[in-house]
Amino acid sequence: MFETLSPTPPDAIIGLIKLAAADTNPDKIDLGVGIYQDAQGATPVMSAVKKAERLWLEEEVSKKYIGILGNPDFNRLFSEILFGTDSDVLSSGRLAMAQAAGGSGALRLGAELVKLANPDATIWMSTPTWANHQPLIGSTGLRIQPYPYYNKDTQDIEFEAMCTTLRNDAKAGDVVLLHGCCHNPTGADLSREQWRVVADLLLEKNLTPFVDLAYSGLGDGLVEDSYGLRLLADKVPELILAASCSKNFGLYRERTGLVVAMARTPEAAEICSGQIGLTMRRMISMPPDHGAALVAKILSTPELKTEWMAELEEMRLRMGGLRTSLAEALSVQGAEQMAAAIARQKGMFSLLPLSSEQAVRLRTEHSVYLLNSGRINIGGARDETIGRLADCILAVL
Ligand code: LMR
Repeated sequence: MFETLSPTPPDAIIGLIKLAAADTNPDKIDLGVGIYQDAQGATPVMSAVKKAERLWLEEEVSKKYIGILGNPDFNRLFSEILFGTDSDVLSSGRLAMAQAAGGSGALRLGAELVKLANPDATIWMSTPTWANHQPLIGSTGLRIQPYPYYNKDTQDIEFEAMCTTLRNDAKAGDVVLLHGCCHNPTGADLSREQWRVVADLLLEKNLTPFVDLAYSGLGDGLVEDSYGLRLLADKVPELILAASCSKNFGLYRERTGLVVAMARTPEAAEICSGQIGLTMRRMISMPPDHGAALVAKILSTPELKTEWMAELEEMRLRMGGLRTSLAEALSVQGAEQMAAAIARQKGMFSLLPLSSEQAVRLRTEHSVYLLNSGRINIGGARDETIGRLADCILAVL
């Protein structure tokens, strides 16, 4: 039977992890996969997570299933972080929530819900978008269409083109995938004014936002990074949210995420919960527990919550500092536009205006690992190597 299978095409991000790991050059710079590294180049378990694990080890009394929608404390506490504790929508009963296998699992559950509710919906995705959005969401069989978002040459958002496409080409009932903050792969986020325009457009055209919030806390701050989500929750009648704890809690391999469907009424939300649960049952039966238990422990223990927020802020500020240093190193050598873009972009990623040949040269000639698209993960850079990184980028320009 298996001889009928064809070899899989390489996955850009996973392939790069392997190439970087195999490079023995001690000076290699790995800006590939979106994993945060500290000043020593390590990705340690966050201190608040470690403490929560110790407490949980003592407190956990059973490994029996929790329930199809996962840990209800996690769902409630993490959604409070994202929507805000005083959010009207949180108390409205209009939110269906389920713990998911990372942000990716949440994206898939959200897409399956769209497929069940409106199989004719098209999902609109930014150009470019995270390399796995299309495979993850497209696997549902839903139609996918691109909307313009980022111009790699000007290194800026093409906002007019984005709005024109959505206004003219999207049909009522379609779904628009929006990066809540720290756009992957560009780092170029909508301004508050642009979010307001998008929210009005979605409302006017009866389009449903599907917000991917995988990096909250790593852009402008936890509250600030929810601006778009909270605005949409106030303005539009329905939305879907896929949120992740991979980066902001450093829980990458624990696969901890949250899917939320905001429905028009509590009754409709109840039905969404049932459908999400059924989808989960059909896909993986019961969700895993560990990561969600840790997040719930942290968010319900004031000292741990304070410690986690401080650690998250440290990550955010460190990446901001690396952005500034790289921008400075590039601008003194004449690459002002690239420098300015890197400095103003948010979160882990920036999309450099490089061709795939230039990206390959960076890898093969300089042991600098970035995606062939030109995406760098600034969270993989280090102060000591910023100068060399800037020199290498300029050398291939
Ligand atoms: C990334 O974009 O590098 C991360 O989201 C990790 C992944 O799985 O692709």
